[in-house]
Amino acid sequence: MSKYFEGLNYSLANEDTWIEFRLAPQNAKSIFTVCGSGSRATPLLARNPEEIHVVDLSETQLKLFRLRVRAAKVLSYENYLYFLGYTQFTKNYLNRTILIRELGLSEEDLIFWKDLETLWNDHGFVYLGKWERHFMKLGRLFKSISMSNMDPIFEAKNLEEQQLALNKYWKPEFFRRYTQVVMNEWVANKLLYKGSFAGSKSNNTMKVSAAEFIYREFSDLLQTTHIRKNYFLQMIFLNHIKYPEAFPAECDPEIIEKIKQSHTHIQTHQKNLLELLKESPHDFYSLSDTFSYMSDDEVANFLSGLPKEIAPSSQMVIRTFMRKPGFAISSPWTSDIALNKEMARKDCTRMYEFTLLTKTSL
Ligand SMILES: C[S@@+](CC[C@H](N)C(=O)[O-])C[C@H]1O[C@@H](n2cnc3c(N)ncnc32)[C@H](O)[C@@H]1O
Repeated sequence: MSKYFEGLNYSLANEDTWIEFRLAPQNAKSIFTVCGSGSRATPLLARNPEEIHVVDLSETQLKLFRLRVRAAKVLSYENYLYFLGYTQFTKNYLNRTILIRELGLSEEDLIFWKDLETLWNDHGFVYLGKWERHFMKLGRLFKSISMSNMDPIFEAKNLEEQQLALNKYWKPEFFRRYTQVVMNEWVANKLLYKGSFAGSKSNNTMKVSAAEFIYREFSDLLQTTHIRKNYFLQMIFLNHIKYPEAFPAECDPEIIEKIKQSHTHIQTHQKNLLELLKESPHDFYSLSDTFSYMSDDEVANFLSGLPKEIAPSSQMVIRTFMRKPGFAISSPWTSDIALNKEMARKDCTRMYEFTLLTKTSL
C-alpha cells in the first residue's frame, strides 16, 4: 500500500463535491464512501441514509471527517464556516479553540486536535492538508515568478468581463512552461506523492502528460467557465476561496440544515476499501480517486466480489486521475461512456476521468 496515504494529505477536497451529492439517493439504507478530506462525504449525510460507512487508510483523515460532521451538527452556520476556515471572522468573537470544545468529540479525537492547535487556531482546517499546501505553494510561486495579477480575472462578474481580464492579465505560454516544470514526474514525486504520482510514465494510462493535461483543462476552465464560482482554482491561484459563490457543497446552508436534522448512523473504518466493499451491500458508493493508486491486479475483478444483495439501481462513482487501471464491467453492472464524459466536464476541478457504474436488475 502506498506510503503516500499517511497523516493529513487532504483537508478541502480536490474533487468537486457537488457531483456525488447530486447523484446520492435520498433516504437510502446505506451509503459507502471513501473519506479523504471528508468534504465529499459530509454532504452525503444531508441525504439522510440510515447508515453511512466512511473508509480511509489514514486515521487522520477519518478524524477530520468526524470533526467536520460534529461542527456541521453543533455549530451555528456562521460559526461552522469560520471554524473550518472558509471565513476568517465571526461576529461574536469566539475563537476556534473555544468552538472545538462545543463539538462533543470523543476524548481521543479532541486530544489529537488540541495537540495540533497551533496549526488550525489562526486559519482553520481547510488549508491544512499536504496536498492543499503543496498546490497553494505552487500558486504563490506562479504568481511571483510570472508577476501575474490573477485577482481581476477572479473578480469578473461574468464571462465577458473575465475574457477581458484574461486578455490583460493571463500569460498562457508562461503557464504552459510552468506546468511542465512543476508537474514533471521527478518534482511531483519528490515534493508530494512519495513515488505514487499517478501521472508518472510508468503509471499514466492517458495519452497526454500530466503537465499537458493540466494546462489543457485549466485553460479550458478559464476560457469557458466563470471562475469566480470555482473554489479549486481560487485555492491554487488566490491561496484561499475568496468568493462564497465558489464554496463547495459542504458550505451550502440548506445542506448544513439537513445534516443537522439527519439521523444517520455513522461508522468510520480505517481499512482498505477493497476489503470493506466485500462485507455488506450499500445503495450508493463514492469511491473517490483511489483506483489511480491501485494495480490492475487489485481491481481487475472487484465487481464480481461485491455482495449479491446490492439492490438494482445502486450506483458507484469511481474517479481516476491520469491512471485508470483495467477492471471488468459485466452484467448486472453497466456504465455509460457519454455520461462519464459529461461528469468529468462538469467537475469544476477537471482533474478526473469518471466511471459511473449502475447495477441493473438483470
Ligand atoms: C487519493 S485521495 C483523494 C482525496 C480527495 N480527492 C479529497 O478531496 O479529499 C482518497 C483518499 O483515499 C484514501 N485511500 C487511498 N487508497 C485507499 C484504499 N485502498 N482504501 C481506503 N482508503 C484509501 C487516501 O488516504 C485518501 O484520503
